[in-house]
Amino acid sequence: MGDSSQMLANIFEQPSVAERCLAMDLPMPPLPDVDRVIFSACGTSRHAGMVGRSWWQTLLQIPAHLEDAADGYPVQVPPKSLIYLLSQSGQTRDVIDVAQRFPTAPKWGITNGSKTRLHELASYTLQTHAGEEKAVAATKTFLGQLLLLLRVALAWHDRANRNVPQTIVLQSKIAQIPQQIQTTLNQTEVACQQVAQKLVAADRLILLGSGINTAIALEGALKLKETVYLHAEGLSSGDFMHGPIAIIESGFPVITIAIPGSATYDKTITEAKRVKSYGAYLIGITTESAVYDADLFDAVLPITDIDELLSPLLTVIPLQLVAYYMAKNRGLAIDAPRNLTKFIG
Ligand code: BG6
Repeated sequence: MGDSSQMLANIFEQPSVAERCLAMDLPMPPLPDVDRVIFSACGTSRHAGMVGRSWWQTLLQIPAHLEDAADGYPVQVPPKSLIYLLSQSGQTRDVIDVAQRFPTAPKWGITNGSKTRLHELASYTLQTHAGEEKAVAATKTFLGQLLLLLRVALAWHDRANRNVPQTIVLQSKIAQIPQQIQTTLNQTEVACQQVAQKLVAADRLILLGSGINTAIALEGALKLKETVYLHAEGLSSGDFMHGPIAIIESGFPVITIAIPGSATYDKTITEAKRVKSYGAYLIGITTESAVYDADLFDAVLPITDIDELLSPLLTVIPLQLVAYYMAKNRGLAIDAPRNLTKFIG
C-alpha cells in the first residue's frame, strides 16, 4: 500500500472486519410478530438497506421495503411492520426522526457506535465492530452493516424454521467470506489503479448493476461523488436501457457489474453489449472464472468466484479502490472531502 490515507487503510481492514463480524456473539431477541420489514437509512447506509431488502426477500421470503429517511420516508408504517434502521454513526438526524415518528412500531438498528441515539430508540441494536472509521467516505462500516444484516437474516431464518433451500446452502458458505475479501483485494488492486489512471480526465461515469448489485452500482457512484467529486450515476442495467442509454457516445465510461450464476446475468451481458456497441468505454466487474466475449470489456476489475447473493460483499471493493485511486491521482483530500462532515458513533 505505502500510503497514509485512512480510506485506503479502511478498505484493507475489511478482511479483519469480516472476521470480527462473523465471530461476534449475535444474541437474537424474540422475533417480532411482523409480516414486513421496512429498511430506512441515508447515504451509504441506505445502500446497505437495499442489499438487506434483497436478503429479506430472497433468504427469508418476507416482504421488504426500502425508504429514504432523508426524504421523509416512511410516511406510514402499517401494523405488523418492523422498521430496520441503519446508520454508521447512529446519530444521523433523518434516521433518528424516523425512529421518533413511529414510537410504537418495533424497531431494530445496526450502527458502528456503542452508545448511540439509535441504541436508545431501537429495541435491538447491533454494533458492527468495524473500528473507528476516520475517513469520511464509508467503506469498512458498509461491509460491517452488510455482514450483520446477513447474519441476522440467517439467524431469523433458523429461528423461524423457514427452511428456504437457497438459504440453507448459503449458510455453509459464509465462513469463506473474510478470505474471499482478502483474495479480491489482492486480485483487483492493480486493475483498479490502471482503471483510475485511464479515467484520470473523466468528468462523468455511469455504473450499472442488476438485482442485488444495483445497490452496489449506487454505492460506487456515491463513493465517486464523495471522494472524486465526479458526476457518477448508478442505475440498474435494465432501467438504463429505458432512456438513459441515449447519453452514451464514443468513449463514455461505464462500469457494469455482472455476476455469473445470477438470474440476470445473461440479460446484463446483452445490455452490456448494447452499451458497448454505442461506443462506451466499458469496464466490467465480474468473477475470475466468468466467461464472456473477449472484446466485450475494455478493462476488467476481477473479484473472486462467489454466490450472487453474497457478491455485494466483494463487488463493492473494486469500486472503493477506483474511487480512492482516482481521488489520489487528482490530488484530492481523500479522507476529508469538501462539503461533508461525518458523525462518528
Ligand atoms: C451523509 C454522509 O451525510 O450521511 C454519508 O455524507 C453517509 O457518507 C450518510 O453514508 C449516512 O450516515 P450514517 O452515519 O447515518 O450512516
